Amino acid sequence: MSAPRAVGLLGGGVIGGGWAARFLLGGTDVRLYDPDPESGPRLAETLELARRALGRLSPVALPREGRLTLVPTPAAAAQGVELVQESAPERLELKQALLAAAAAAAGPEVLIASSTSGLRPTALAAGIARPERFLVAHPFNPVYLLPLVELCAGERTAPETIERARRLYDLVGMAPLVVRKEIDGFVADRMLEALWREALWLVNDGVATVAEVDDAIRLGAGLRWSFMGTFMTYRIAGGEAGMRHFMAQFGPALQWPWTKLMDVPDLTDALLDTIVTQSDEQADGRSVRELEQLRDDCLVSVLQALRAHDIGAGAVLARHAGEHAASLPTSAMADGDDLSRPLALHSATVEPDWVDYNGHAHESRYLRVFGDASDALFAYLGIDADYLTGGSYFTVESHLSHLREALLGDRLLVTTQVLDVDARRLHVFHALARESDGALLATAEQLFLHVDTVARRAAPAGAAVLARAEQLAEAHAFLPRPERAGRAIGIGSPSA
Ligand SMILES: NC(=O)c1ccc[n+]([C@@H]2O[C@H](COP(=O)([O-])OP(=O)(O)OC[C@H]3O[C@@H](n4cnc5c(N)ncnc54)[C@H](O)[C@@H]3O)[C@@H](O)[C@H]2O)c1
Repeated sequence: MSAPRAVGLLGGGVIGGGWAARFLLGGTDVRLYDPDPESGPRLAETLELARRALGRLSPVALPREGRLTLVPTPAAAAQGVELVQESAPERLELKQALLAAAAAAAGPEVLIASSTSGLRPTALAAGIARPERFLVAHPFNPVYLLPLVELCAGERTAPETIERARRLYDLVGMAPLVVRKEIDGFVADRMLEALWREALWLVNDGVATVAEVDDAIRLGAGLRWSFMGTFMTYRIAGGEAGMRHFMAQFGPALQWPWTKLMDVPDLTDALLDTIVTQSDEQADGRSVRELEQLRDDCLVSVLQALRAHDIGAGAVLARHAGEHAASLPTSAMADGDDLSRPLALHSATVEPDWVDYNGHAHESRYLRVFGDASDALFAYLGIDADYLTGGSYFTVESHLSHLREALLGDRLLVTTQVLDVDARRLHVFHALARESDGALLATAEQLFLHVDTVARRAAPAGAAVLARAEQLAEAHAFLPRPERAGRAIGIGSPSA
């Protein structure tokens, strides 16, 4: 099974737009139905946000985007697709009618899913043709960045529907969590709802402002949640004595009045005014678009940090982004590739922690970007996890030239020209340009030696890898030799 070629989306608001971005930027075609004429322009803005965020997140170039088609009816959204994902307003009758119309038009094998935050799948399925292929697939905002999707079966959902859905969402980089019983609110929203009720009480009772409630999460527990969740965190809190000790120590508190869980404050005008005023103060004049960008940038940083530790959402990202060697071949050379130009296999964005005291990217970051570009080239030559168990290219020489400054937020594109190859050596030239104006910022000339990774000594490259490298070198021989190739370093030398 591969990622879906086309999906149909019903509703293109916050969540539908997020789904559209995840699918389109993953290379899947999208057919979107939304009766609101403003949904098209709104979606364009969401796509812009997502391109920005995913471009920063992924060290490899994003695949070619899927095609977006706005369609006039739910039935049209269900034509020629593998999945219909409904993300319309949270109203049972509206969703039932919409799902029934799409399901009647969809082929029998098409998965039908609802993004509902809390409605039960059995209720939603009333009126759906072939309800055995219907399920709830509940995502989180922004859908293009957050991997969790809760899958919940209704009474008539077939077990294989859950299995197919699990594979499908996994293939688009998500982490499906199958809810074991049909329940209102599923797993995550039950917990979020509890927190939300408590937060409203704290504001209602004048214990804390909305900003202070947020501080209480983001400066403390929230930092731990993104990689350990609740149970694992508390296990550590129990010390060496573990969970049993933790339960013994804090168990009695469960009987104390630490929470008002089942009660909710009346949403009086006074309480609403307080919340709105304090929330405005907290936003400090920043628009929703600015806050969305800030949210995405922070999520990208957290996800990248977690990827380095291969934990939580970072592990999901690493698996999907092809940073594990097993997924390298996904970008391997294919018939019909245009080899008449330098290869564009890698892009990156200058992140805040790349910038040094000079106000531009630290020199180590340039080498990192070029190193990642070389890895992308090796993947392109067909070096995959199997291959790496016996052979690999090791870098033996690099010559970096820094021509202009790479500044915070600059989007960087690397193009790669193969200059020469023989059985054991590969000679390449990378050029790093700023996407916005095409300015050449840096170059790297590198020589790689092919190594037998078991014997740890130089050895000829495998026949298929070598054949691809030779094909590239032959094609790139028609390109002008880069001006800086072969230069030496020294005062008064041409590269100084
Ligand atoms: N916002 C969240 O954080 C979140 C998270 C997970 C799940 N959800 C669920 O996703 C669904 C959508 O929520 P949202 O936040 O995107 O709402 P939204 O109001 O942003 O978007 C709803 C969209 O549906 C469109 N719409 C209205 N009537 C329609 C119809 N008959 N057919 C098709 N589209 C129609 C609207 O024009 C709008 O664009 C809800 O079921 C919600 O519970 C929301």
